[in-house]
Amino acid sequence: MPKVYVTRTIPDVGHAMLVDAFGADSISVGPEGISPRDVLLKGVKGADAIYAILTEAINAEVLDAAEPQVKVVANMAVGYNNVDVEECTKRGIPVTNTPGVLTETTADLAWALLMATARRLPESERVLRAGAWEGWGPLQFIAGDVHGKTLGIFGMGRIAKAVVRRAQGFNMRVIYNTRTQLDAAEEKELGVSYVSKDELLAESDYLSVHCPLTPETTHAFGAAEFAAMKNSACLINTARGPIVDEAALVKALEDGVIGSAGLDVFEEEPKVHPGLMKLENAVILPHIGSASIETRGKMATMAAENVIARLKGETPPNCVNPEVL
Ligand code: GLV
Repeated sequence: MPKVYVTRTIPDVGHAMLVDAFGADSISVGPEGISPRDVLLKGVKGADAIYAILTEAINAEVLDAAEPQVKVVANMAVGYNNVDVEECTKRGIPVTNTPGVLTETTADLAWALLMATARRLPESERVLRAGAWEGWGPLQFIAGDVHGKTLGIFGMGRIAKAVVRRAQGFNMRVIYNTRTQLDAAEEKELGVSYVSKDELLAESDYLSVHCPLTPETTHAFGAAEFAAMKNSACLINTARGPIVDEAALVKALEDGVIGSAGLDVFEEEPKVHPGLMKLENAVILPHIGSASIETRGKMATMAAENVIARLKGETPPNCVNPEVL
């Protein structure tokens, strides 16, 4: 029987699928929390499949510790920057992810975060809970409108498109910048206009980040970008932390270079820049974009399907480096 190592506790549905396919003795699971490195290195020893969670970096060290029989690294996330894909490819190991199933849930969260940041919900709730609310005030917690404004989208994949569809209900003008422009029919259907990154920065009232994390997108938003944005602009990041230079963002928020930021992801999770912790114009969430019961179940199922397919000698459906197959 093959050995499957799951780096952390996953939703029951995914675990049950693995047990059904290979038997309970074949499945080992790491801790519930982020796996200490030594636990991970010990856990993967002899594994045929590594079922990975995005908090665990799967690199040469882990693959060496597992020894050469690893046949698949299945990440329970759509983003896979935690996996050294190049190293896996070199060793002929397919890497899989979970595209599609978390699109709508993450778009919901991006909107929740945008609205919460725009209308200062956490800040005003903090005042109320502290017993400091003195009753309705004409100037109290006033903020910019969302409806009718310009929404800028950076990166135009599945999640971005789902965010745009929601923006239609708010009567927003939507502009976007991405590596590859959409075709005219899709632009029309979504009601979006392609602009340069400079125009995106200059014109967005709300700028939502939806690109994958790659060497090219690391710190795609830093001091120069913030300086090019409106003083009132609101930056939303539900993609990956390192796309935004967190220290530069703190400075921009402190100095009023931009208006506000809503972040679900951070440069060095679970660490958060101490400046962000103090700023009232930053809304910060603990990476909960895909955290619905339904979606986490689907992600767990999809990663399990990839493990099962590969270990049964079939093509894993969501391989990101198909050249190894
Ligand atoms: C979550 O952040 C994911 O990439 O699936």
